[in-house]
Amino acid sequence: MSFRNALITLTLVVFGLMAVYLVWRLVSVRRNPTTNDPENLTPFLDDDGLEGPRLERALGWSLIFVMIVALALPLYFLFEPSRQDDLAEHFDEQAVERGAILYANSESKEYDAAKSLLCANCHGVDGQGGQAPFVLQPELDICDVLENQGNPDVPECLPVQVVWTAPALDTVLLRFPEEEVFQILTWGRPGTPMPAWGVESGKGVLNTQSIDDLVAYLDSIQISKDDAQKRSTKEVIAFRLSAKENLEQQEIGVTTAKANLAKLRTDPKSTPAAIGEAEAEVASQEAIAASAKEWADQVADMGEGEVLFRLNCARCHTKGASYFDPNNLALPPPSPSGSGAFGPNLTGGSTLVQFPGGAGVQEQFDWVARGAPANEGYGIRGISSGRMPYFVNMLSEKQIKAIVAYERGL
Ligand code: HEC
Ligand code: HEC
Repeated sequence: MSFRNALITLTLVVFGLMAVYLVWRLVSVRRNPTTNDPENLTPFLDDDGLEGPRLERALGWSLIFVMIVALALPLYFLFEPSRQDDLAEHFDEQAVERGAILYANSESKEYDAAKSLLCANCHGVDGQGGQAPFVLQPELDICDVLENQGNPDVPECLPVQVVWTAPALDTVLLRFPEEEVFQILTWGRPGTPMPAWGVESGKGVLNTQSIDDLVAYLDSIQISKDDAQKRSTKEVIAFRLSAKENLEQQEIGVTTAKANLAKLRTDPKSTPAAIGEAEAEVASQEAIAASAKEWADQVADMGEGEVLFRLNCARCHTKGASYFDPNNLALPPPSPSGSGAFGPNLTGGSTLVQFPGGAGVQEQFDWVARGAPANEGYGIRGISSGRMPYFVNMLSEKQIKAIVAYERGL
């Protein structure tokens, strides 16, 4: 039992005893002797008795009680604020616990089959980022023709299965204020695998409190600004490396397919069908390797600013950046870098219009580094919707400058 509960119990017990005492005083026979005398003639203590030890005892008790009250009131006054803080903290802890359950998937220790919403499936168990399967619907005009739909002879009109990169959430509050994360959770990101979760959107089931709980949980897993910056720098190296490694792997795939074909050709038992299949495999591996090479060459040519843009900005400013995969030849051709998606088109010198001249460079830097609260202006005619993240916690000043320079050349 906590100290506070002990005090409450003690007070209740004291009230109880007082009630018993009162009842006892009212009904006790000894205290209410039955005589035939009228009340005012009932004998009682004489003056000496009343003003003697009896009076002192009554006064003594009063003094003790007054002292208790005199001590307790200031103590209450002193402890009450911290008690409120403790309560708020406890409340926050509970919110984090509830949020963790909502976030979990079966690999998390907080998993609860009835309550968990499996955010971890896409965003990673620890919020480090992950992947989400997604189906792209064809967009070409010829696919509006009924007979082209689902027709294997018109492959560009078949839906394409892609893997959509789901962003890390252990840095999301380094990039967005809590209110914006609340909005994202409520409304989702239409056109992406991120569902709307809030009742307010008409598509979700979560009330305000559950969304607050999720935000509280996300807040509890944020990494430090330093770690976030280190991660961003490592990602640049990993990005360059992965394009090279992928090319090497695809080239090995070609060699393997070719060796397989050569073996089949020398084997007298091979059927023409098996050889045909192996030839097709070589052709397909070669096509993938060619695409992987094109990508690796592109990456090798990219400057620092472009790679940083790819890793931090392209998912909102370049259509298809979240699911681009040089090995997936079924994908529609990639859109030009920065040509717009969820965020506006930045190409054709458009950022030079929004942030003109030498002063514009600094203004664009400030916008990318710190953003602007919703409904506030930026640049010449921009009005922030609050949806553009800020990067001052994620990237170094030098990195942001490199990105701005890259954008101004788009
Ligand atoms: C089916 C996969 C999937 C599930 C489930 C999912 N998300 Fe997402 N979420 C995504 C993807 C993909 C994005 C990025 C969309 C984009 O490209 O703009 C995203 C974006 C977000 C963002 C914005 C992050 C940013 O940096 O832009 C937040 C916050 C978020 N999700 C939180 C959650 C939470 C909390 C849950 C669980 C209640 C959840 N997500 C469930 C796939 C998912
Ligand atoms: C989560 C999506 C998202 C990401 C990631 C993102 N942006 Fe944006 N960006 C937006 C949106 C949305 C706008 C439109 C302004 C608004 O709604 O407040 C915008 C606007 C801009 C503008 C102003 C364009 C104009 O002409 O008004 C620039 C410049 C910009 N972003 C640069 C960047 C850079 C640089 C990065 C990466 C470091 C980045 N953005 C990452 C969503 C994003």
